[in-house]
Amino acid sequence: MASTNKNKNKKSELELEYESEEDEDNEEPSIGKDDKFSSETSQDQDMITSSQHYFGSIEDGFSISIIENMKEEYGLFVWPSSIILAEYVWQQKSRFSKANVVELGAGTSLPGLVAAKVGADVTLTDDANRLEVLDNMRRVCNINGVKCRVLGLTWGVWDAPVFSLCPNIILGADVLYDTRAFNDLFATVTFLLQKSPDSVFITTYHNRSGHHLIEFLMEKWGLKCTKLLDGFSFMPPHKASNLSGNIQLAEIVLEVK
Ligand SMILES: C[S@@+](CC[C@H](N)C(=O)[O-])C[C@H]1O[C@@H](n2cnc3c(N)ncnc32)[C@H](O)[C@@H]1O
Repeated sequence: MASTNKNKNKKSELELEYESEEDEDNEEPSIGKDDKFSSETSQDQDMITSSQHYFGSIEDGFSISIIENMKEEYGLFVWPSSIILAEYVWQQKSRFSKANVVELGAGTSLPGLVAAKVGADVTLTDDANRLEVLDNMRRVCNINGVKCRVLGLTWGVWDAPVFSLCPNIILGADVLYDTRAFNDLFATVTFLLQKSPDSVFITTYHNRSGHHLIEFLMEKWGLKCTKLLDGFSFMPPHKASNLSGNIQLAEIVLEVK
């Protein structure tokens, strides 16, 4: 599992600038009554928090609010790989502005939300059995004022809605962490890549022991890597300083034989 040393109290100058703007205009979406987790106990609610993520400058950028649950291990937490992938989407916004995007294992969905903010048609997906994660995705879409489809999509499972997807960009942040799920993930990625020529899977992951398995499975599924970046190479310093780990970004496509 990915680890993080995020320092949520440390705010950059940019963040503080944004906050003062927001205070003046009172425009920032907040978690409304309807967005509260009504079935949670008060102890559970203590673990629920909201984080702010900033893209670009005040003039040409935006911020995104994410509801997180510190009690959860996986899909209700913004993992560092997600922050890095979201920044990549922002920096490549012209590529995303008319794209059809599917995010796999989206969890709190930061990269997909950035893609939607810059104009992409976005479907956010996560494990079909994790209804609390899918509910949270709908909430974060609402509080950020974006319209995305939310779909239960378990890797390697061929339920009817999967067949309706035809993305030209597939996103996946920190989806390569459990080696037992790698083959199913690549099966789904390959299926989606085959639906649309020139489509690409863009993923960020912690570079650790599963690397050889990733290479082996890419060959098995007829995939090739066209770009491999150190995830910190394009991060603004004020964002990078809150993150740690050896995170890579890979762009993966079908190998044409
Ligand atoms: C480490 S979390 C990453 C979440 C989010 N992408 C991020 O980076 O903040 C892994 C995500 O993959 C999802 N996931 C795990 N196994 C899955 C499977 N077999 N099918 C679909 N989603 C799965 C989890 O529910 C979780 O949201």
